[in-house]
Amino acid sequence: MRVKLFDCAARHPAAAPDSPPAIRGLSIAVESGEQVAVIGPSGAGKTTALHVLACALKPTAGRIELGDRDPWQLSSRELRTLRGSLFLAAQVPPLPPRQRVVTAVLAGRLPSLSLWQSVRSLFYPMGMSLAADALARFDLADKLFDRVDRLSGGERQRVGLARGLVTSAELLLVDEPLSALDPTRSEQAISALTDGARERRATLIATLHQVETALKHFPRIIGLRDGALAFDLPSNQVTPALLHELYAQKLHELTAPSLPTPNFADNAAAPAPPVVMYCR
Ligand SMILES: Nc1ncnc2c1ncn2[C@@H]1O[C@H](COP(=O)(O)OP(=O)(O)O)[C@@H](O)[C@H]1O
Ligand SMILES: [Mg+2]
Repeated sequence: MRVKLFDCAARHPAAAPDSPPAIRGLSIAVESGEQVAVIGPSGAGKTTALHVLACALKPTAGRIELGDRDPWQLSSRELRTLRGSLFLAAQVPPLPPRQRVVTAVLAGRLPSLSLWQSVRSLFYPMGMSLAADALARFDLADKLFDRVDRLSGGERQRVGLARGLVTSAELLLVDEPLSALDPTRSEQAISALTDGARERRATLIATLHQVETALKHFPRIIGLRDGALAFDLPSNQVTPALLHELYAQKLHELTAPSLPTPNFADNAAAPAPPVVMYCR
C-alpha cells in the first residue's frame, strides 16, 4: 500500500490542547512495498507519526492518503475496512495475559475473517500452521501453546511481531520492534520482519532506536527531530555528521564505539563511510 502525509500535524491525545504538536509540517511519501526506518531522538514524534499513518490518530492539520484515499473522509464502515488492511505493532504489544501464544498470533487474522469464523476461532484456532511458521521465524516455535503471561518481555515482543506476519495487511507499521531484545535476537527479528514483509509485498515502516540496525536492514531512512523531517535519504547517504545533528541535543541516546569524527564541511557531498553505532 502506498502512503502519503501532506504537511501533517498531530499531538498525543493526552497532550494539552495548547501544547506544541508532536509532529508538524510532516510530508512523506512511501511507495507500495517499500521498507523505511524512522529514526530520531526520544520525543521526536516517531510514535505519533506511526499512529497517524495507522489512522489511530487524526491529524490536526494537513492530510493523509492511504492507497490514494483520505481515511478521514471515509464512512466509519469504510474506515473500519481500511484499518483491516493495516497492522500497527505497538512497542509493548497489548496481548491478553491468559491467552495462548497461538491464539494471540492468530488474532492478527481476525480483520480478514467473517464474524462466524472469528467466533469459531476463539474455541478452535484456525491456521495453526500459519502461526507455527510465523513463530518459527522468530525462534518461538516451541512456545505455540504457552500462555502469554509466562513469556519474557522479549518473547512477548516477538509474538507481537509474529502476529503481524499472519495478517493480510498491506501496510505494516512497527514501533520500536527491538526495544526488549538483545543484539542477536534483534538481528534475527528484524530479518524475519523485513523478509516477511518483502515476501508479501507489504509496505513496512518501522521506528527504530538502533541506528546501526536501521542502516543495515532498511534501504531508506527518515530522520525526525522535534516533530519535523530532518532528512529522508537512502541509507547509504546517511552520514555520521547527519546522525550527530539529528541527535544533537540527545547525544547520550547515541553511543558510537567506532564513530568517525563528523566532518560537517563536506557532509553533503562525501559518500557515507561505514557507520557503527548503537542507541541506548
Ligand atoms: N502519554 C503522553 N501524554 C502527553 N503527551 C505525550 C505523550 N506521549 C507523547 N507525548 C508528546 O508527544 C511528543 C512526541 O512523542 P512520541 O511520538 O512518543 O515520540 P518518540 O516516539 O519519537 O519518542 C512528546 O515529546 C510529548 O510532547
Ligand atoms: Mg516512540
